[in-house]
Amino acid sequence: MQLDFAALTALEAYRWLASTVTPRPIAWVSTRSREGIDNLAPFSFFQVISDEPPTLMVNVGSRDDGSLKDTLRNARDTGELVIQLVGMAQAEAMNASSASLPHGQSEFAHCGIASEPSQRVAPPRVLGAPVAFECRVAEIQPYPRQAPNCHLIFAEVLLAHIDDEVLDTDGRIDPARLDLVGRLGGSAYVGTRDIFRMQRPA
Ligand SMILES: Cc1cc2nc3c(=O)[nH]c(=O)nc-3n(C[C@H](O)[C@H](O)[C@H](O)COP(=O)(O)O)c2cc1C
Repeated sequence: MQLDFAALTALEAYRWLASTVTPRPIAWVSTRSREGIDNLAPFSFFQVISDEPPTLMVNVGSRDDGSLKDTLRNARDTGELVIQLVGMAQAEAMNASSASLPHGQSEFAHCGIASEPSQRVAPPRVLGAPVAFECRVAEIQPYPRQAPNCHLIFAEVLLAHIDDEVLDTDGRIDPARLDLVGRLGGSAYVGTRDIFRMQRPA
């Protein structure tokens, strides 16, 4: 089978990409609006793109009516965000927080998700997240430049919070304890406990 992407609709292209480029980590992003309302939403077009400076990238698409998602609006307005990784215990809450609420309504309150204050940025952290990165917005790039369809948020990591429960006795991440949720296509998800190891060639 071959797919000529020029012949696909945007929705078809999305479905093929999202169901093949898997598993994708999920950025669970908290932001605070200018008015002080806290926002939370998941994004799986997400990756670490640089370690020097430590930088994560989140792709925020448009809403169906063309308006900006709150995450983008708040990150652009305030220059701050927190990116959490999603533990298996938080899968349902993460999914619930993807509800498209009106600007001015908080997913934290709407979904009953508890938060705690961050240290370097204003948006709060999700209580109990295994990993949370407090970030400043380094850059926001509309993509593609000529006719933007989405925005790429480049987020520089300022401070990471890592739950002690996911560390091994040497103080390193134990992947089995980390137990994150990854996104597959459609409504399918995967856990990160199916672990095997390989040594790199000399
Ligand atoms: C697992 C998951 C992954 C998602 N990934 C993305 C994504 O990569 N980009 C995007 O624009 N929306 C993504 N969404 C949809 C947003 O979470 C949704 O549009 C949300 O309402 C945006 O909230 P906001 O307006 O508060 O920013 C995803 C939803 C789920 C459940």
